[in-house]
Amino acid sequence: MKKKNTSVKPLNFTSGWEYAPAPESADHIHLEKQYELFIDGKFVKPGKGKYFDTINPATEKKIASVAEADEQDVAKAVSAARKAYDKVWGRMPAPERAKYIFRIARMIQERSREFAVIETMDGGKPIRESRDIDIPLAANHFFYYAGWADKLNYAFPNQQPAPLGVAGQIIPWNFPLLMAAWKIAPALATGNTVVLKPAETTPLTALKLAELIRDSGLPDGVVNIVTGAGRTGAAIVGHPGIDKIAFTGSTDVGKLIQKSIAGTDKKLTLELGGKAAHIIFEDAPINQAVEGIVNGIFFNQGHVCCAGSRLFVQESVADMVIQKLKDRMETLIVGDPMDKNTDIGAINSKEQLQTILKYIEIGKNEGGEIYQSSCALPGKGYFCKPTLFLNSSQSHRIVQEEIFGPVLTIQTFRTIEEVIEKANNIPYGLSAGVWTDKGSKIFNLTSRLRAGVIWANTYNKFDPASPFGGYKESGFGREGGLHGLMPYLKF
Ligand code: NAI
Ligand code: MG
Repeated sequence: MKKKNTSVKPLNFTSGWEYAPAPESADHIHLEKQYELFIDGKFVKPGKGKYFDTINPATEKKIASVAEADEQDVAKAVSAARKAYDKVWGRMPAPERAKYIFRIARMIQERSREFAVIETMDGGKPIRESRDIDIPLAANHFFYYAGWADKLNYAFPNQQPAPLGVAGQIIPWNFPLLMAAWKIAPALATGNTVVLKPAETTPLTALKLAELIRDSGLPDGVVNIVTGAGRTGAAIVGHPGIDKIAFTGSTDVGKLIQKSIAGTDKKLTLELGGKAAHIIFEDAPINQAVEGIVNGIFFNQGHVCCAGSRLFVQESVADMVIQKLKDRMETLIVGDPMDKNTDIGAINSKEQLQTILKYIEIGKNEGGEIYQSSCALPGKGYFCKPTLFLNSSQSHRIVQEEIFGPVLTIQTFRTIEEVIEKANNIPYGLSAGVWTDKGSKIFNLTSRLRAGVIWANTYNKFDPASPFGGYKESGFGREGGLHGLMPYLKF
């Protein structure tokens, strides 16, 4: 009898394919050991000489020291932005402005590989996402708004749109370069100048963007980038020379900002938290819906304000959907964000991991039935297993509060009325998703769900031409599209 060949390992279909590691190389990137503040077209040291570390959350290793701006540094940045607005940018013919914005877009494309690697190192997101989503979308936002710069009179006919002046912009750590693009591109297209603060855990791509902006020849002071934490942000908000604040981040800080500028004539847009309902009807294409659920909550480790974090499944298909979801979760690769096979990278910071783990404990104590995929987590770095809470109920804190991690609560429903009621019964209203074969159901839902963005038979799709923003405690004002120009204009 022939001997069996035992050297070939059988494929294990239950736990998915085993992939050989495919790490992206970091040889082509250049990072400084220390980063300064970008003010008036130059990198300058912070007045008090203070610096903080930014680390790689997948390795816990320090990447660079970054300057911490205080009130005086912020004041310098605001006065540079004011001077640039008064003397150059506010007066420049719009087609000339557009050329600079187009140039920035093209330069981001040229350096996209470098930006993608740095985004992944500094923030922990899988390289596949930073390469295919964050960086191309950031370039697209500049292209899109460059196109509007000389067409504002067509966008707002007979209204004589005019810029506001100096915009103070504060952004979070979940899409660092993309959020910088969402903020800077429409501000420049409408003739405003900018003081932008990236998040303290992910400042590097914004500082790389500062280098790119300097190299692009954009007039000095049009874009200023100051780094630091909450205190630096508060200094921007409190500076009397700022005409408009654009903030993306937590609802708590959004409320603080709103209070602190009450009584001033500063304009404000807030893009805050979310707790999106993701609704699966029995007539949905189930396999695609399961992919949509996975993308909705596990994309970017659930660090997405529009994450589909509350799943509602119609009762008749609930068992099937949950089983398929569990099977799919088993195949997700959690680990090194620089590996091109990785689906779920590192949680952005130790603090955020603690927040997520705290919510997982709360969920267990509330009596939710927990399910986590069986994958092993790396020994170093901040990682979290993809997690489901089955049999969740509307009163659970994990259903009501934003977790901002790969944690999905699951509820079932019978009728469309019931699911609309439950989906809307929440302080947030940023986004929602619906899966069904029936167009009429989609229209019925989209007109009655209180959410700024609703995806039908897809999820987490972004385009610079479509406006984004929330209802209720998810904030106000829109970014993206024609709507995204308005917060930077007076009429
Ligand atoms: P955060 O709201 O504290 O940070 C966002 C930005 O605001 C950062 O640049 C930060 O330095 C700045 N900031 C902090 N305090 C400020 C102040 N008093 N004045 C002006 N700027 C200030 O968010 P954090 O602490 O990083 O995350 C906490 C929670 O917030 C997360 O667990 C998540 O639920 C939510 N979040 C929501 C985001 C969204 O996209 N809507 C983004 C980031 C966080
Ligand atoms: Mg970092």
